[in-house]
Amino acid sequence: MIASVLQYLVENPYLLGITVLLIVFILALSVLFSGPKPAKNPFSPKHVRPVGHLVSDQKERDRVLKQRFKADKVPENLDTVIIGSGIGGLSVGVLLARAGKKVLVLEQHDQAGGCCHTFHDKGFEFDTGVHYIGKMEPHDDDRVLMDQVTGGRVEYPRMDEAYDIVAMGDPHQEKVRKYPFLSDEKKLKENLIRCFPKEKDAIESFFKLLRESRNFFEGYFVLKLLPKWLARLLISTGLFNIVFKSYAKFGRITLKKVLEGLTEDEELKGTLSYIFGDYGVVPSRCPFGLHTTVMRHYFSGAYYIRGGPSEVPFQMVQVIEELGGKVLVNAPVSEIIMNSGRAVGVKVQKGDSQVEIYAENIVTDAGVSNTFLRMLPKEVATKSSLYPLINKLGESLSYMTVFIGLNGTKEELGIQAHNCWSFTRPDLEQAFQDYIGMPLDKVRDAEVPMMFVSFPSAKDPTWHDRNPDKSTCLLITLSKYSWFQQWEEGRVKHRGEDYEDLKTIIGKKMLQHCIKLYPNIEGKVEYFDVGTPLSNKYYLGFQHGEMYGLDHNMQRFLPEPAIQLRAKTDIPGLYLTGQDIMSAGLTGALFGGLLCASELLHRNLYNDLQALKKELKKSS
Ligand SMILES: Cc1cc2nc3c(=O)[nH]c(=O)nc-3n(C[C@H](O)[C@H](O)[C@H](O)COP(=O)(O)OP(=O)(O)OC[C@H]3O[C@@H](n4cnc5c(N)ncnc54)[C@H](O)[C@@H]3O)c2cc1C
Ligand SMILES: *[C@@H]1O[C@H](CO)[C@@H](O)[C@H](O)[C@H]1NC(C)=O
Repeated sequence: MIASVLQYLVENPYLLGITVLLIVFILALSVLFSGPKPAKNPFSPKHVRPVGHLVSDQKERDRVLKQRFKADKVPENLDTVIIGSGIGGLSVGVLLARAGKKVLVLEQHDQAGGCCHTFHDKGFEFDTGVHYIGKMEPHDDDRVLMDQVTGGRVEYPRMDEAYDIVAMGDPHQEKVRKYPFLSDEKKLKENLIRCFPKEKDAIESFFKLLRESRNFFEGYFVLKLLPKWLARLLISTGLFNIVFKSYAKFGRITLKKVLEGLTEDEELKGTLSYIFGDYGVVPSRCPFGLHTTVMRHYFSGAYYIRGGPSEVPFQMVQVIEELGGKVLVNAPVSEIIMNSGRAVGVKVQKGDSQVEIYAENIVTDAGVSNTFLRMLPKEVATKSSLYPLINKLGESLSYMTVFIGLNGTKEELGIQAHNCWSFTRPDLEQAFQDYIGMPLDKVRDAEVPMMFVSFPSAKDPTWHDRNPDKSTCLLITLSKYSWFQQWEEGRVKHRGEDYEDLKTIIGKKMLQHCIKLYPNIEGKVEYFDVGTPLSNKYYLGFQHGEMYGLDHNMQRFLPEPAIQLRAKTDIPGLYLTGQDIMSAGLTGALFGGLLCASELLHRNLYNDLQALKKELKKSS
């Protein structure tokens, strides 16, 4: 019997390959987290509690999110110091604390949350870096993990079925053509065919490729989960590509190439590319698999966060502190302290002096560039194999945000729980290149060729209880750091008139553009302010105001960089978390946290998460 099975396998090399791969894979998983004894499993159905009432009292929220750093607030006997309080940092904090570790999270800004932070000004509340997420149905991996790290106390209201609207055309010159993107694959496809009847075949083919590429991201994730040596072995022998076919196939072809192969219709190509703003890479440089992963992310619905994105850190900080940890703000880390080649602590800058804090491990959520260019001693950083990646991948694009407060309800203003992606031209990449290549004096007169429009107030069902008769709107566009560089030494809110003028000119252009798309908001604007790449630098700590950390171009998704960008660095005691080791996005950074906590706890938390899901299913 065994002999005949072997015989059969030898005659079918493909099956033999898969069998060998499976055996290696199973062995690897057992080797992977052997070594140090695994810590306690941080997951449990007990960690999910019912959603309580929304705490809207600002003082009460600040008591959690704005605890200013003081040396005497630092807990003793720290296991881990975490630099940065984005979702990547806080999720590691919760998972370690649940396994019995004592953690301290240090944040440079005056409130915790990173891209999840929200702010208040003149009676309006604005979100900043999270506008919609997908995969929040009860049994989705993303949702189950989110519930574990927030204690289950966050709700995710669904947005409209048409969650994204693509608006093609210059609203000052022509009638804009609108293409709604629906959160149901079949309906979406049918609707696109209705809009582009001559392009039925191209659309059908595109959706086929959307399906076919669905395992692209799994392959990318597994490379980070396996030990480095094994990941490299599987890649170099070609075995990896047998199992994760779509990883190899759709990581080496750009979105632009695929679309060119399908159609010559510029409008359709532009429409199918619209979501590139979600990961920040133009179609000629973006792997097709990344694009379809982001598109598919919303196929079962797009969601917002009840009470706004700061609800996520608000709950996570409380979980960390219930378990003896601490999250302190106004705590910029200026240096990682090394001892005999090991990261052993950090220095927090307080005025002219520095406070030293020591722990067994150091985790950084501040991004690879910040960590290696600005926190590690130069001689340590340059020896790391991660160092060359900073230049090789480059940083992501920078951006601007216009914050608009409106007088009126959602109904009165004709706004909805959706985002609108407006492009003045269907050849959106060229339009963008033309814009971004302009010198400053031209920028002042130029129309902004692309813009993301969001209405946070319309997405949050609790908004109007808290803010009757008011609404909010955000406009985001890609921008260029060098346009603003001359003011980089200035203090926030005191950069001078020229700076104010420039940002207001661009912001007003965006507002006029938006009024053309949503005419009811005309005359209702009560609040207007503009954030530039310098604002992003100040609030998020990104040196050039970049949007998503390291760039998400083709390079990043090739096997070697994918293997290198992982939680455990080649500097003992130093770990990475957040968007740079997985991908941008709230849940991208969250899974970065899962990978990081896996290393620190010596457990495969992905397997633990699957086991938890089974347990939850049984009990429901
Ligand atoms: C404008 C914008 C819109 C977005 N929209 C969406 C969206 O709709 N949906 C979605 O899923 N994702 C969206 N994203 C992406 C998503 O928000 C991020 O990818 C994710 O939140 C990143 O989490 P993180 O923990 O990796 O980093 P961050 O949230 O950036 O956190 C890093 C933290 O480190 C801190 N830090 C930096 N240097 C230091 C230092 N020296 N000392 C101490 N602390 C330091 C920073 O202040 C920051 O708080 C958007 C991002 C932006 C910028
Ligand atoms: C808001 O609109 C209402 C009704 O249209 C009006 O009475 C009120 O004065 C407006 N408020 C402001 C601050 O403009």
